[in-house]
Amino acid sequence: MAEMDPVKLMKQEVGRAAAAQVKSGTVLGLGTGSTTAFAIQFIGDRLAAGELTDIKGVPTSFQASVLAKKHGIPLTTLDEVETIHLAIDGADEVDPQFNLIKGGGAAHTREKIVDGLAEKFIVVVDSSKLVDKLGSTFALPVEVLPMAVAPVTRALTALGGVVELRMGIKKDGPVITDQGNMVLDVKFEAIAQPAELEAAINNIPGVLENGLFVGLATEILVGEVKDGQATVRSL
Ligand code: 5RP
Repeated sequence: MAEMDPVKLMKQEVGRAAAAQVKSGTVLGLGTGSTTAFAIQFIGDRLAAGELTDIKGVPTSFQASVLAKKHGIPLTTLDEVETIHLAIDGADEVDPQFNLIKGGGAAHTREKIVDGLAEKFIVVVDSSKLVDKLGSTFALPVEVLPMAVAPVTRALTALGGVVELRMGIKKDGPVITDQGNMVLDVKFEAIAQPAELEAAINNIPGVLENGLFVGLATEILVGEVKDGQATVRSL
């Protein structure tokens, strides 16, 4: 049998470890991305095996909703539940203070709502996502109303960012979010004060939400591969 690509293996094992923390009778925030997709799959497996009962998921994207349905996880909405006991979601960068950049899948607006409401928020990443300073490897995603793309681009440039409109792959033109908006990817040298930058960007008229998640994560599960063996450590 062909060996699994190490990054995929890390994502799988970290997704499995997060799914193992889910308890019966809870409401889950279901994140977006390739690592969370494994967690959703393993939660579905545990439900099918009868290990878990009475689970409801609040999806953070169209992708999460499709995956949850595929794996038999009943869905609910924020109109119907007051508490999210546990959210599981990926990240594009994680700093030593557990601050994150998210939005690689353009889902950060709904993700911040759901992850931010959760009593516990587990972040599932492979070790390549750990950074000393946010912004060192990944451009910060900013969701913007389409009619405001030009003024928001100017405002973000004035804040010191290099701005690019995210373009579709296998689709001509820009990426359109689940809310019908566009995404600007903004490269900063390194983000010294994430909370201040998060607030400054969200204060620009036309910005819906940016991908800085400050003080929201409670546990980081990191997948690593050594000598072909995947391990998961908790930070
Ligand atoms: C989507 C996200 C994802 O969680 C993030 O991009 C990580 O994705 P992956 O697990 O595929 O690396 O923020 O908006």
